[in-house]
Amino acid sequence: MLSVVVLISGGGSNLRALLEAAADAEYPARIVAVGTDRPDAEGLRHAEEFGIPTFSVALSDFESRAAWGDELLNQIRQWQPDLTVLSGFMRLLPAGVVEALSPHLINTHPAFLPEFPGAHAVRDAVAAGATQTGASLIVVDNGVDTGPIIARERIAVEPGDTEAALHERIKPVERRLLIQAVLDIANGNLDLKELARA
Ligand code: GRF
Repeated sequence: MLSVVVLISGGGSNLRALLEAAADAEYPARIVAVGTDRPDAEGLRHAEEFGIPTFSVALSDFESRAAWGDELLNQIRQWQPDLTVLSGFMRLLPAGVVEALSPHLINTHPAFLPEFPGAHAVRDAVAAGATQTGASLIVVDNGVDTGPIIARERIAVEPGDTEAALHERIKPVERRLLIQAVLDIANGNLDLKELARA
């Protein structure tokens, strides 16, 4: 059984999809804890609904990003996860945290990487007048959305698409890629160490 910690910052709809998948006894992964940098993150309610422990480590409580990162890593390590998933986690992790967790550290991104990296991928795609974008799942490295690609899928940008409308069409694809990737990792069909070495 693969144990997974999920980190969020917002609504957690992707987290919820993973919680629902993991609630199925046949699914070989369990979410053991949900962490956030935002104690008020809406998505924590999904963890509470499924009875999953939560923790929050707010950057503002620390003297430095490094100290914040150390505490976040401590909290994650308490759960001894096989995998840590960033899903709507809107902070860049300090290098020490990435070194400690990657390649068993993956991130969902609402674009067809390497197109539109960064925190405003959907807005950037709309602003660029792109006719297509996508959803991606990557191994986190020390760049911004530059890690090895686990999976990605194209999504059309419709004429007149707002950022919100497009993002709501991207998220279900992210969820499907995430649920499949966690399944593949759990059943040994996807070796993150191998992918990261490639
Ligand atoms: C997702 O599109 C994720 O890729 C991006 O932020 C969004 C989070 O959505 N980083 P939610 O919080 O899972 O609803």
